[in-house]
Amino acid sequence: MWNFKRIKFFFICSCIVLFFNSCTDEKQLAVIPAIIPVPSSQQINDGIFEMSNSTGIFSDDEFKQVADFLKSYIEYGSDIKLKSEASKNVISFKKDTSITNEEGYHLKIASNEITIAASSAKGAFYAIQTLRQLLPASFENGAYKESTVSIQNLEITDAPQFKYRGMHLDVGRHFFPVDFIKKYIDLMSMLKMNTFHWHLTEDQGWRIEIKKYPKLQEVAAYRNETLIGHYSDQPHKFDGKRYGGFYTQEQIKEVVKYASERQVTIIPEIEMPGHAQAAIAAYLELGCTGKPIDVATKWGVFEDIYCPKEATFKFLEDVIDEVVALFPGKYIHIGGDEAPKTRWKNCAHCQALIKKEGLKDEHGLQSYFITRMEKYINSKGKQIIGWDEILEGGLAPNATVMSWRGMKGAVTAAQQHHDVILTPGAYCYFDHYQSTKEDEPLAIGGFLPLEKVYSFNPIPKELTKKEAKYVLGAQGNVWTEYMKDSKQVEYMAFPRMVALSEVVWSENKNKNFENFKNRLEFYQQRLDARDVNYANHLYEVKGKSEIKEGVLFMDLKTSSNTKSIRYTLDGTAPNINSAVYKNSLLVDKSVTIHAASFDSKKQVSGVFKESIKMHKAVGKKITFDVAPSEKYNAGGNAALINGISGSDKRYGDNEWLGFDGKDVEITIDLGKEMDVNSIATRFNNQTGSWIYAPSQVIVSFPGNDEFIPIELEQSKEKIVDLKLETKIVTRYIKLKLINYGVIPDGKQGAGHKSWLFIDEIIVE
Ligand code: ACM
Ligand code: ZN
Repeated sequence: MWNFKRIKFFFICSCIVLFFNSCTDEKQLAVIPAIIPVPSSQQINDGIFEMSNSTGIFSDDEFKQVADFLKSYIEYGSDIKLKSEASKNVISFKKDTSITNEEGYHLKIASNEITIAASSAKGAFYAIQTLRQLLPASFENGAYKESTVSIQNLEITDAPQFKYRGMHLDVGRHFFPVDFIKKYIDLMSMLKMNTFHWHLTEDQGWRIEIKKYPKLQEVAAYRNETLIGHYSDQPHKFDGKRYGGFYTQEQIKEVVKYASERQVTIIPEIEMPGHAQAAIAAYLELGCTGKPIDVATKWGVFEDIYCPKEATFKFLEDVIDEVVALFPGKYIHIGGDEAPKTRWKNCAHCQALIKKEGLKDEHGLQSYFITRMEKYINSKGKQIIGWDEILEGGLAPNATVMSWRGMKGAVTAAQQHHDVILTPGAYCYFDHYQSTKEDEPLAIGGFLPLEKVYSFNPIPKELTKKEAKYVLGAQGNVWTEYMKDSKQVEYMAFPRMVALSEVVWSENKNKNFENFKNRLEFYQQRLDARDVNYANHLYEVKGKSEIKEGVLFMDLKTSSNTKSIRYTLDGTAPNINSAVYKNSLLVDKSVTIHAASFDSKKQVSGVFKESIKMHKAVGKKITFDVAPSEKYNAGGNAALINGISGSDKRYGDNEWLGFDGKDVEITIDLGKEMDVNSIATRFNNQTGSWIYAPSQVIVSFPGNDEFIPIELEQSKEKIVDLKLETKIVTRYIKLKLINYGVIPDGKQGAGHKSWLFIDEIIVE
């Protein structure tokens, strides 16, 4: 409903400074409502509720625990002590069975009473999280040193769009202390996220105590050393330091209890049949070869996976028995991803089993493996979740699919009437870079800015309304190869988790990125108070090139319209006296633009830097015989002829174009015949991310007989440069790029077609 009061609410949100200045005669509010995730409906009313030592708090038994949570929060946060008898005003919890969504709530703040109505403790807990955001951020660290606080009268009716609202954390690649796991869960719950996917076993470390198998603690939990730098940096270097740890069952029980007090369910992941090298290092008989191996010391996908022997199933069933006893939730995640079949192909037992069970091939064997484990887990009263590879070779009958390699797995599974959870890399992998700035801390690759997370719609458009019902929700994944400590996890998870919370909770009609950013500015105060090392790219300057009638322009923008952009074109860093950016900059020669955001006194962002190289193809016409992938086409076709080269690290930026498994023919029309002396371009070759330089590039000049095939040797470099010196007069230049082909065994993504990424085509 878009009534007058709601309009007023949004006006207040975006004009906070003005509001404070103009209302000095009214009782000042500690906080103006700017709630994340945005509620279904909210209405500001006149008046305030004044919370003080004279405020009572009441609940019946069902809501006692959440009421205590609120009481503790307020009393920790401030000098206010709530009473258990009515006096000046009250906070009361009411059961309301007419609220059909058990996570929904109605929050009414009136001058004499705060009423929290819900049909279950979950809904009441979420009302508290909303109320929390109406209190000053200093409550978060106990720094609100007054004994009264005023809260705006309002009425909120709210419920989530999706019932699965998840965050994942990989504790295998790096291990994080229990206190941090609790902090992560608490920060999730503030955003009404309700599922913590705890990725507990990996090639590089087994992190859950299993009492029956002590070598998991003694051997599998530790690696001898760890890779330094990026996986793609060759040759690999190691730090020589033993690394590891695990959570004891007592610690896990403590975390489970802590999570349940915050309405967060934990899904433990015990990976099978792949990502099992640490377990096999401890118990060699679990693998196919019996040969000694170490807990992995670098990242990637490893060939030593569980051998489907009776002894292996016994081991996994014993592990599951102990896991099931620790985690009260409905699901056990069994992994299922990235299990190379090399060992199985060469194992007499595996081959005999394929024959005996009448399986088609090794994919059939993986399906047999998962289905058998599913049966066991179902017999314990639990359901399995697996990564989308569990679709290959046939889906286990009751499995829920977690779709990570795009949305396709989700579509296939939902069409087969299986529940699905969306975690596609392009929207939900919080291990990807979030800014194109070159000084970002090292990450695995990719590019997933806040806005892209925010734009995610978890319902694949291919699904019918009926099929869409199988979409339980979405999850942000935090793989920690490049996150050595908790602070770096916070940097990568925040504020992207904040954006995702709105994706999974809020109604589309209430979502608006500009408005979200305003609210995020407030939410950051809360994160500051909680000492969260979030990435702040809100004021960062972003540049976008645009070609209008053959002429190149650069547009600069920053997310916040309360800041101004200042820039230089002479190579110097911008300062408070530099030119203020007003309109697009026309670019007609090679230049480096530096820019930053400023408030009235100082610089508030890092420096944006873009070097533009003028060449003969800039602004000319370019065509492709196949379209670049929608996911890697941020700059459009003109990205290759805009004078700007892509980032060496981030193939998902505005400059690289990515093609999925295909050969590509690119034609540039220079508009008229010109002398062409050289043609240069670059190919991305981050093979760990399935990206390979083409095997061959054929350069030709339509209207001219010249025809130059260039073979490219496979390279270890992350970027492969190509430069062709020529002497030709031509109007057209054609580049035919021959895709590298299927990724070979032993490499990440083996068996899949490789990606091809090309950068600027520089014609001189
Ligand atoms: C995954 O990212 N391997 C699920
Ligand atoms: Zn085997």
